[in-house]
Amino acid sequence: MESVVEISHLKTTYGARVIHDDISFRIFKGDIFALLGGSGSGKSTLLNTMIFLKEPAGGEVKILGKNIWKLNPKDSLDMKLNLGVLFQFGALFSSLNVLDNIMLTLREYTHFSPKDIQDLALMWLMRVGLEKEVANLYPNELSGGMVKRVGLARALALSPKILFLDEPTSGLDPKSARHFDALIAQLRDLLGISIIMVTHDMESVKSVVDRMMILKDKKVFFEGSLAHLKAQVESLDTFLEHI
Ligand SMILES: Nc1ncnc2c1ncn2[C@@H]1O[C@H](COP(=O)(O)OP(=O)(O)OP(=O)(O)O)[C@@H](O)[C@H]1O
Ligand SMILES: [Mg+2]
Repeated sequence: MESVVEISHLKTTYGARVIHDDISFRIFKGDIFALLGGSGSGKSTLLNTMIFLKEPAGGEVKILGKNIWKLNPKDSLDMKLNLGVLFQFGALFSSLNVLDNIMLTLREYTHFSPKDIQDLALMWLMRVGLEKEVANLYPNELSGGMVKRVGLARALALSPKILFLDEPTSGLDPKSARHFDALIAQLRDLLGISIIMVTHDMESVKSVVDRMMILKDKKVFFEGSLAHLKAQVESLDTFLEHI
């Protein structure tokens, strides 16, 4: 199995406080991988070490075969372009309409013509299941589920190899959450990307996640598939409710 992410002996700290103490795990190409753990266990911090937002105090974060914290500025920019990120609250610019939000990175990082950029943005808008008419709306005119989809279209605009999602279904009603799960699985199948998500949503874990890791007491408490986890615990539901 080819790995897209390999974390080895990672240590992270905030000042004197240790958050991750010598953790190692890997994420395979084409997988939907979940980062789980209780509140404050360090899920977001861990995600941040993979998207250039939190420098580790020790160990390695290897993505697509490269130690991302050792890259020179040019290689680091190339690496960043391989990574799409959907932040927890969508992080759309409220003063820009949907289409402009999606076009931002295309304008900044490609040399495509304005017409091509617009066509690409519209293509992504439709690919995440939104109507063309949504292009002209502003973020405050969107439902929670639509904000997530627009954020997803923006994260995908540059055709990343790896997509990072922080709590993608939090704040959505159950029906929208399941639709979002289905969309994620569809995009993975269609685009062949690898997806890494922080989630509290156990329905997502049960329906779309291939492998997962659970953080506990600064260490990796579990790494593997749902079937693998099922074989290790008495009741999966009770276990998942308590992490
Ligand atoms: N910038 C920071 N400075 C200092 N401490 C921080 C910082 N960010 C996070 N922490 C602390 O590090 C620990 C891990 O935080 P993190 O946000 O990674 O956890 P989490 O698992 O994502 O939690 P949640 O489920 O609540 O989002 C927490 O105790 C938090 O208070
Ligand atoms: Mg968090």
